[in-house]
Amino acid sequence: MIRQIWPGPERALGDDDLEQLYRYPADPRWLAVNFVSSVDGAVEIGGKSAGLSNPTDRVVYQLGSDLADVVLLGAGTATIEAFDGIHPDERTAERRRRHGLAPVPPIAVVTSGQSLPPDAPVLTGASVPTIVITSEQAPPALVAAWSAAGAEVLVAGREEVDLRLAIATLVERGFGRIDCEGGPRLFASLLEAGLVDEVRLTLSPLLVAGTADRIAVGADFLPAGAALASVLTDGATLLLRYFPSPDERNA
Ligand SMILES: NC(=O)c1ccc[n+]([C@@H]2O[C@H](COP(=O)([O-])OP(=O)(O)OC[C@H]3O[C@@H](n4cnc5c(N)ncnc54)[C@H](OP(=O)(O)O)[C@@H]3O)[C@@H](O)[C@H]2O)c1
Repeated sequence: MIRQIWPGPERALGDDDLEQLYRYPADPRWLAVNFVSSVDGAVEIGGKSAGLSNPTDRVVYQLGSDLADVVLLGAGTATIEAFDGIHPDERTAERRRRHGLAPVPPIAVVTSGQSLPPDAPVLTGASVPTIVITSEQAPPALVAAWSAAGAEVLVAGREEVDLRLAIATLVERGFGRIDCEGGPRLFASLLEAGLVDEVRLTLSPLLVAGTADRIAVGADFLPAGAALASVLTDGATLLLRYFPSPDERNA
């Protein structure tokens, strides 16, 4: 049973309550980033996130994509986790109908070109065209191969991917509810660009040690604050929501 412990009063949450809490606000853009981490901060076990997840995490993970217009991924996560697009079951289909959403949200993958081969399942297995977000530096033959594999290529930026331009273009095209499912390098870049509206973090009751990354890695980013939005529990699992907020720094 998932319980909300903050803000109070403490109460058990049913499916409708969870849907209410995790629905995207009416803002033209709402970019929510979803991660599951161990208590000691690991973002993967044996190279993948599955070992960190559990049924409670899967409830909110599912809500993230069920209620979104688009699912945003870095090329690393898309390929390592072998994403093959969203294939809604009956429950998701009903939920999306009820919220007036398109039947299937496309995946949008951010890449310079290096880590996204044209035969990646995220291109070949998707039921709606995957959007490949890249820069003008991507080799033309590769761009052609992505298109031939069924992708729609969105070029944003000259030397590097311009994430602000890419996200603004997605919003313009009607993809304002954005569910980013990682990974750590994309998350850090989005933070650096000031594009993250919400962080949804599952803290899984596991201690992993080893050399795993944490949830944000790579880009320069000055410490910034995060305002706590909600805390849910289910047994020893914590479901946390934060709004990045410079004003909360060291508060
Ligand atoms: N625990 C969780 O919730 C969770 C969630 C997601 C992923 N993960 C784990 O994270 C690991 C993958 O980590 P990762 O850091 O490689 O993932 P990632 O951030 O998904 O992928 C990194 C790649 O994405 C592209 N990218 C990211 N930011 C970019 C930018 N600003 N401009 C252009 N391209 C950009 C680049 O691809 P190119 O090399 O093609 O340029 C980069 O090499 C896996 O082990 C996965 O299981 C865990």
